[in-house]
Amino acid sequence: MVPLDFLIRQCRLEGPVAKRHVLFVNLRRIQREGLESLLAARRLGYGVVLLGRSVPEFAKPLVDEFRQVDTYDREASLAAARDLAKSYDLAGVANFTEVDVQLVAAIAADLGLRGMSETAALRARNKYAMKEALRHLGGVLPRFARVTGLDELRKALDEVGLPAVVKPTGASGSKGIFELRGPADLEPAMERLAGIARPDFDPVFRQFGAEFIVEEFLEGDELSVEGFVSDGEVHVVTVTDKVTSVPYHLELSHKVPSALPSDDWAEITATTKDIVAGLGFDHCAFHLEAKWGEQGLRFIEIAARPAGDYIGSHLVPLATGVDYFENVIRVATGDPLRLEHDRQVNAGLRFVLAERAGRFEEVGGLQGICEQAGFDHVFYEVPAGTEVALPPENFGQQRVAAVVARHVTRAGLEALLDRVPAEAVARVTPAVADGE
Ligand SMILES: Nc1ncnc2c1ncn2[C@@H]1O[C@H](COP(=O)(O)OP(=O)(O)OP(=O)(O)O)[C@@H](O)[C@H]1O
Ligand SMILES: [Mg+2]
Repeated sequence: MVPLDFLIRQCRLEGPVAKRHVLFVNLRRIQREGLESLLAARRLGYGVVLLGRSVPEFAKPLVDEFRQVDTYDREASLAAARDLAKSYDLAGVANFTEVDVQLVAAIAADLGLRGMSETAALRARNKYAMKEALRHLGGVLPRFARVTGLDELRKALDEVGLPAVVKPTGASGSKGIFELRGPADLEPAMERLAGIARPDFDPVFRQFGAEFIVEEFLEGDELSVEGFVSDGEVHVVTVTDKVTSVPYHLELSHKVPSALPSDDWAEITATTKDIVAGLGFDHCAFHLEAKWGEQGLRFIEIAARPAGDYIGSHLVPLATGVDYFENVIRVATGDPLRLEHDRQVNAGLRFVLAERAGRFEEVGGLQGICEQAGFDHVFYEVPAGTEVALPPENFGQQRVAAVVARHVTRAGLEALLDRVPAEAVARVTPAVADGE
């Protein structure tokens, strides 16, 4: 044991102990999620250096240094990270979005920090490489094939069958998810996808471009599994029940914890461990998406990043007491995870969607919601006055607000969330067409 007075004397001689830093690579797009991730690092005593395309205003007071770089440019980003490592004692590096998984793995390897292998990171980013690596799991996966055009799609459907889903292998944020219900759906879907899976539509398509995966359409209730993998050990924190919109599968609501019975949780946990191990994910948060039906868990995909949609920032902490973003930092730095639940509450959210394209004016009907104690937060996701569009023209603008609620019972939570679409209405002034 080092005597306390020695430590105090040493501090006096050497000044305050230099702060260690965590290197953040970009922030989540949703401001409130980005804020929670920065605050978590601060609570744990770390400073933050941020490498990214831009730094939002709210983040500036919480970031010790921001280094602007095009994070799609791997070499420039690696050089910038190396340079930052000369000035800061980096305890870890963390990504918060899908597109940065491979870059963060490369930075970790380069700087000798904790991270996952480049092979695992590629599997995290490419929906086809991911499923290929998991073929040994058999019936957990949908039937699937890689296609690049209409002829290949037709051929692949002999094996995959209809109904099916076709989507870009490198997509995230539900950009370009097309259901194929009958033969007539193939051509329009591929035409649309040719316009979507391009870097000029969205930079997420810079890497894998016009490469698609076609999958058997999975029936059942949708869920996600939230967890961490650290030193190869997989920890499931909770399971989320999820509802998506028809037909483009944008998220509508999330509820934590899932209402499935405990036997089902056991199977979900066991399969999740097989999937994370099979992919070789390590030292990261993960968010696994699946359907639960007659055949048990059927796997959609897994992301090697923190859960978005306020699941990590709000729903998990409200429902379980686990500080999700503190654990995102811990898993990057190697500090022991703290995943004990200290409560059993139901937490959930419901998104408010614009019903048409145009100028988003406001969300009406929020007063009644704000007056009820069970509603914990209301977030505007786009400022009033923003032009919004609907899918398939745009996949990211239909969602204008989110309402978070909590209740001790699941039925109570559902009653609260059911009020949201009934009462909270996005007012949108339609764009006036030329000549009208
Ligand atoms: N094979 C499938 N069967 C049924 N539904 C599917 C299938 N694949 C995708 N979906 C639906 O589309 C949604 C988005 O698919 P996926 O997660 O692969 O795309 P994504 O672009 O990564 O979206 P996100 O970032 O929102 O998770 C799923 O959550 C699910 O609702
Ligand atoms: Mg997904």
